[in-house]
Amino acid sequence: MAQTAQTLTKDTVRRAGDRSTTDSALAPAAAPYAARIEHVSKSFAGPAGAQPVLDDISLDVAPGEFVTLLGASGCGKSTLLNLVAGLDRPSAGSITTDGRPALMFQEHALFPWLTAGKNVELALKLRGVPKRDRRGEAERLLELVRLGGAYGKRVHELSGGMRQRVAMARALAQDSRLLLMDEPFAALDAITRDVLHDELTRIWRETDLSVLFVTHNVREAVRLAQRVVLLSSRPGRIAREWTVDIDQPRRIEDAAVAELSVEITEELRGEIRRHGRH
Ligand SMILES: Nc1ncnc2c1ncn2[C@@H]1O[C@H](COP(=O)(O)OP(=O)(O)OP(=O)(O)O)[C@@H](O)[C@H]1O
Ligand SMILES: [Mg+2]
Repeated sequence: MAQTAQTLTKDTVRRAGDRSTTDSALAPAAAPYAARIEHVSKSFAGPAGAQPVLDDISLDVAPGEFVTLLGASGCGKSTLLNLVAGLDRPSAGSITTDGRPALMFQEHALFPWLTAGKNVELALKLRGVPKRDRRGEAERLLELVRLGGAYGKRVHELSGGMRQRVAMARALAQDSRLLLMDEPFAALDAITRDVLHDELTRIWRETDLSVLFVTHNVREAVRLAQRVVLLSSRPGRIAREWTVDIDQPRRIEDAAVAELSVEITEELRGEIRRHGRH
């Protein structure tokens, strides 16, 4: 499916195809990145004036790349992800994505009055998939997240892990190049989380999806990513990044995962000490 680039800046939202854009912006983008974050800062109004939350963040996510964004609670991870999703605008700088990203949050946000299958079909409908094709495609996506028999199940009949799988199928139904995930497995028990890590890794390897995954769990960050980016706090800046050169599929208990996690945790502790919060 042809994707178009979308740029969010302080003042504008630009997408190829907008009538207000210039001719060069009308050409379909052959973007060398799935997301490009350039000198992005974000402040929120507070009682004592504007509170800077993010300061001069620049980060590219390459096509097909899996990046985790790691940082202490309150350092601005969700804020940054929301900006990339286009849910809010940066105070300065610009963000360009290769098409409209798909989102997945800690809360599954499924519609409880719809079945698992209909929740996925709704995303297909919004994408413009013809009615006759939706059921088959929804079943294929539920298969992909290993929920083959769950098409007719209502949300309350599903376990927490199954709900997150449906949410994943629904995110995949958007056929985006970029999947933004904000602690999607944080509320799950360790075993279920482990299974979903495997599933996410498998789906990521089977597709050309790029993933920007937010977590404050160091092991999870290392288990999943090709690159781990550590944010400092108050305001959030990129403190350090690591390339994770460990073969996939990995296990969270692998010695190499543990070793790198120890190194990153040390750095994260240093960040928390410097800023006096956790
Ligand atoms: N809409 C908003 N208005 C005002 N302040 C906000 C808003 N959204 C976030 N903040 C503030 O920005 C800071 C960063 O919040 P954010 O939710 O991005 O942190 P986080 O890194 O995702 O934390 P956590 O790991 O706990 O989810 C916090 O101090 C928060 O209170
Ligand atoms: Mg958050």
